[in-house]
Amino acid sequence: MILKNISYENFRNHRSLTFDPENGINLIYGQNGSGKTSILEGIHYCALTKGFVSANDQQCLTFETEYFLVNGNFISETERQITVKISYKSEKKITVNNSEIKPFSHHIGTIPCITFSPPEISIVNGSPMERRRFIDNSICQTDRKYLDDLLTYRRVLSQRNTLLAQLKENTKDQDNTLSVWSEQLSRIAAAIVRKRVGFTEEILQWLYGIYKDLSVLEEPSLLYRCSLGSIRKEDSEEILYNRFLQKYKDTEKTDIFRSQTTIGPHRDDMQINLNEKEIGKYASQGQMRTFLIALKLAQHRYFNEKICEKPICLLDDIFSELDTKRTEYILALLKTYGQSIITSAEKKTYGGINAISIENMKKENRR
Ligand SMILES: Nc1ncnc2c1ncn2[C@@H]1O[C@H](COP(=O)(O)OP(=O)(O)OP(=O)(O)O)[C@@H](O)[C@H]1O
Ligand SMILES: [Mg+2]
Repeated sequence: MILKNISYENFRNHRSLTFDPENGINLIYGQNGSGKTSILEGIHYCALTKGFVSANDQQCLTFETEYFLVNGNFISETERQITVKISYKSEKKITVNNSEIKPFSHHIGTIPCITFSPPEISIVNGSPMERRRFIDNSICQTDRKYLDDLLTYRRVLSQRNTLLAQLKENTKDQDNTLSVWSEQLSRIAAAIVRKRVGFTEEILQWLYGIYKDLSVLEEPSLLYRCSLGSIRKEDSEEILYNRFLQKYKDTEKTDIFRSQTTIGPHRDDMQINLNEKEIGKYASQGQMRTFLIALKLAQHRYFNEKICEKPICLLDDIFSELDTKRTEYILALLKTYGQSIITSAEKKTYGGINAISIENMKKENRR
């Protein structure tokens, strides 16, 4: 997928700006606070209907303005033109090639996109939620059914939790409603876990290859940790379904007591080890950063294989933390990965990249 052109109106600090990246590696450089991350944020909106930095749409609205508009023109590898318009004026509206998209989740996957940014180190050393989000984001962009399952899971989970609270407070009699919700939840939980286990397996294979190319003498491993207990990678969805069903029965009393569903994909984790030790606890900062980049590169390979489309890579300020050798290696790899848009406070002079000063971009726009 290639971004041909994007324009911003009242988006963060950009009152009016257009950006025409090239097909390969684009490096936007300029002072702190000049609006580099904001450019990536707008591209992320076009791909995933929300930002990767801002907490909500309101935060992206330029101070004291009433609306924002981001308009991106993309072209797919099959030469399909895709125009994504995101507008916000008290509520958000998304159109793709002039047709309104509702719900927004239907847009996910149309513009595959991967981010690389320093705060994402929390995938490596943060809470399980960060790793679940990474897994879900990856599968959702390549599998529409998975996204639908996730949304249904959240809805059923919340309904089951409401019922658990009512049973605890005795505001509802115990009938078979709980087992109906548990049955539904088991079905979707099994489908979600099955796909997450498959994803973990596939990503690990890509990771091995990337570590080999990096010539780093470290051995990564990934293990999907399910709240069901140990599961085998060959366990079918039916096996998982029956295990969830049983587990929900076993934990009914605890669940009612806590008014919470204590088992399920919303409680799972992906354990990351480096040289057989838990990475978040034992690895050095540099090893964690290298792992994160390798993981994202693996995610790129995964997307490319699943949807036959190279995702757009948004790299926010990551080279400031890497040595020259690693930077050069990653740039060389990215050249084969399709389009990348990189931000940096300093101009970097590597061959074959399109370096753009944000100040010049702003000047061009004022003409
Ligand atoms: N809603 C908003 N309205 C106006 N300005 C905003 C809004 N949100 C953020 N800003 C400002 O926009 C400016 C650009 O932010 P941005 O994060 O894009 O800068 P940057 O070039 O990436 O900087 P750095 O090099 O420090 O990462 C900042 O000064 C920020 O405070
Ligand atoms: Mg920035």
